[in-house]
Amino acid sequence: MPPHQPESMVAAIRQSPPVDVSVPYESAWVKGKTILITGGASGFGAGFVRHWAEQGATVVVGDINVEKGDVLAREVRKETGNANVHFVHCDVTDWQSQVNLFREAARLSPHGGIDTVVANAGIAGADAMQRPQGMTDAEPPKPNFKIMDVNCTGVMYTAHLAYYWLPRNSGSDACSMDSQPGTTCRDRHLLLVGSIASLAPIAAQPQYGAAKHAVLGLFRSLRATSHPQGIRVNLILPYFIDTPIVTLGARVVLAGGAMGKVEDVVDAATRFVADSRILGRSLVIGPKVTLKQLDNGEWDLVAKGTPGSRETALWEPYAEDWEDVDAFDRNIVKVLNAVQAARGWIGWATDIVKAVGYGLGFGR
Ligand SMILES: NC(=O)c1ccc[n+]([C@@H]2O[C@H](COP(=O)([O-])OP(=O)(O)OC[C@H]3O[C@@H](n4cnc5c(N)ncnc54)[C@H](O)[C@@H]3O)[C@@H](O)[C@H]2O)c1
Repeated sequence: MPPHQPESMVAAIRQSPPVDVSVPYESAWVKGKTILITGGASGFGAGFVRHWAEQGATVVVGDINVEKGDVLAREVRKETGNANVHFVHCDVTDWQSQVNLFREAARLSPHGGIDTVVANAGIAGADAMQRPQGMTDAEPPKPNFKIMDVNCTGVMYTAHLAYYWLPRNSGSDACSMDSQPGTTCRDRHLLLVGSIASLAPIAAQPQYGAAKHAVLGLFRSLRATSHPQGIRVNLILPYFIDTPIVTLGARVVLAGGAMGKVEDVVDAATRFVADSRILGRSLVIGPKVTLKQLDNGEWDLVAKGTPGSRETALWEPYAEDWEDVDAFDRNIVKVLNAVQAARGWIGWATDIVKAVGYGLGFGR
């Protein structure tokens, strides 16, 4: 075995610097983008649809709830005057249903491509892992793993299809932290929706916790290997936020504590969608807190109005995990970069052959 040689891969995976949420961005930068949102009929998704449609994006919602999705699309079209807001029935656990959603989104897109995919659909609730049924039977019955199906397999299908469609967004360039947001709407962006349950244990919801940890793992892996396709991958990690997914039981347990706000989730997601310079980053969204930076660089919770403090609901976790990697990750990333560079030379050689052929009268 070669000795362990930690090495920073931040530049090699084209990861942008940590997100500074005090730096402003323009929501208007989403104008003209075609955005596909799974589970967009309710909660965060509905918040994204309204805000991005107001800014002039084309929004295609795929949701299992036909009634809510249809009403939302009709309402938002009427309220915003933006005709490019569409609902398509989709069950994210059904591969063919997601294939149809992506195909339909490209067909409805005014420019024929998809710029951003938001893997948002999710469920919570009674967990078969927590309360196994029928364990006294001679043979245990097959458990209901619907939460894993929607929150993990459904997200994997969405990510897989995003990796098919985003590089086919003709007119888009490979994502880059040197891009100039607002100058072109074209993008190749996958925004994953995790949870605080991606980072911390969640009692009584083992499937939900496992699925959301899987989303975090997907993000941390994909962000290292997405640059050959020119795709940027980001992640939002909301704390408990007041939407229909928060069960009555959870509301009772949370009584007296703070919940986050949908508007802050919309803010975090809009920053990622709008600012094409952000590559491979994540933001936690919690209740608003007042923070002050100490002399040692650490942040401390302080009373509202404390001089030098600022109020925020957002902060970035896992900012450093590609700064020191092991030999396996280092070698994989180097191979990917070498393949990409080689493709570049092949592309150049192909163009030269074409140019010579053209000069000789072929293909005119
Ligand atoms: N609200 C919170 O406290 C919170 C916190 C962290 C993460 N999240 C995550 O945010 C995402 C959105 O949740 P929300 O809070 O807006 O909840 P929500 O219940 O309001 O919205 C979820 C949407 O997903 C749709 N959906 C469910 N199953 C589906 C399926 N099989 N196919 C297609 N669509 C399906 C629902 O119809 C609904 O419109 C979820 O992934 C959730 O896990 C929510």
